[in-house]
Amino acid sequence: MRLRRSERESRRALLRFIASSPLAYGLGAGLLPRGAEAQLDELLEALIESPEQALNVFDFQEYVKVHMPTGHYWYMAQGADDQRMLTVNREGFTKIQLRARRLIDTSNVDTSVELFGQRYDSPVFIAPCGALATFHPEGELAVARAAGTANTLQILSTVTNNSVEDVTEARGAPLWYQLYPTSDWTFTRAMIKRAEDAGCTALALTVDIPARNLEPIARFRRDSNEECQACHQPGFEAAFSTKAMFADADLSNLGMGIRGLTWDYVDRLKDATSMNVLVKGIVTGEDAGLCLEHGADGIIVSNHGSRAEDSGRSSIECLPEVLDAVDGRVPVVVDSGFRRGTDVFKALALGASGICIGKPYIWGLGAFGQPGVERVLAILNRELRIVMQQMGTVDIASITASSIQA
Ligand SMILES: Cc1cc2nc3c(=O)[nH]c(=O)nc-3n(C[C@H](O)[C@H](O)[C@H](O)COP(=O)(O)O)c2cc1C
Repeated sequence: MRLRRSERESRRALLRFIASSPLAYGLGAGLLPRGAEAQLDELLEALIESPEQALNVFDFQEYVKVHMPTGHYWYMAQGADDQRMLTVNREGFTKIQLRARRLIDTSNVDTSVELFGQRYDSPVFIAPCGALATFHPEGELAVARAAGTANTLQILSTVTNNSVEDVTEARGAPLWYQLYPTSDWTFTRAMIKRAEDAGCTALALTVDIPARNLEPIARFRRDSNEECQACHQPGFEAAFSTKAMFADADLSNLGMGIRGLTWDYVDRLKDATSMNVLVKGIVTGEDAGLCLEHGADGIIVSNHGSRAEDSGRSSIECLPEVLDAVDGRVPVVVDSGFRRGTDVFKALALGASGICIGKPYIWGLGAFGQPGVERVLAILNRELRIVMQQMGTVDIASITASSIQA
């Protein structure tokens, strides 16, 4: 296969990537793991050259491992502590088996779902991920157009590079807005109002990272070079001056963080907006119950894509106790580690109303912009349709607890 870049260029990029990986750091800066050189040709030959060539979402991951700047790659790819949750989240799916039913006419499969009165063609949604211009100049706008092509839900991060108004226009339909509260309630309330005025139908309060330990990016920053420092100035003001929703803010007096928050903040949000309020980052039945007590209209089960605590519990394993506590009263969406149509199917069978992807669409975005994100969504939807046909389920409603053995 002919490579997009010259082989030498790609080889250098891959060497840089491997040399800055935690493994190489562990061995001593610059040292390559034994045998890595020998695998280079094979790896490079296997890389896709266009979105159409991708057979699964991992093809995009392999591409960005080589082509994305190392620091950007680690900002995106890192998990908590020793990266174990990345594996834990994937392994959770293997603990659930499928119970296929035969001889059901699945010539026409309908993957559409409805949430808060809005119909989407797919239950595979776009999770809020901050600063998408890091991965492609069109950032959230490219993702919005791809979400529009797939007619699926996009949840926009507070730390978006593009404004909620521009992203809504690019999507061509209402978004949900994800909230990281600021230290200034007046500013936060104005931001919520702005999202509401832009047409957002839901507000998702993220509560799962009161603190976090992400070593790869900290290690990379510690060792980072002049090339990185040319764009990245230290400090809050520098980081937030490029975030669209903070363009008019007095950054010298603003702070972020959820460490001081308690459940009355959910009440406060309910009073402050007519949007549906969801809580993102719930992993226990107890907290699901508290969400309902405080009037939440929905829950997102999530461990922040492996970036929250190193709990050893995958997101899909946390889902049942949340669903039990909710007992069908509000929609429950789940994310963290979804990479295959069968993963989506299993979550739906447990009772989720939809699932979100984070890193997979960033891989697509970083590799090829909007067409990359479109292809990632198309692949997951194709895989979901395939497993639905294999399982004899013609629509999302027919995917039930009897479809799985957990
Ligand atoms: C690079 C990156 C940035 C993220 N930024 C945010 C954010 O701004 N707000 C938020 O609630 N979650 C954020 N998340 C978490 C995602 O919303 C989502 O929970 C997670 O990515 C899903 O897991 P997955 O990446 O394994 O698919 C981010 C995740 C990544 C990878």
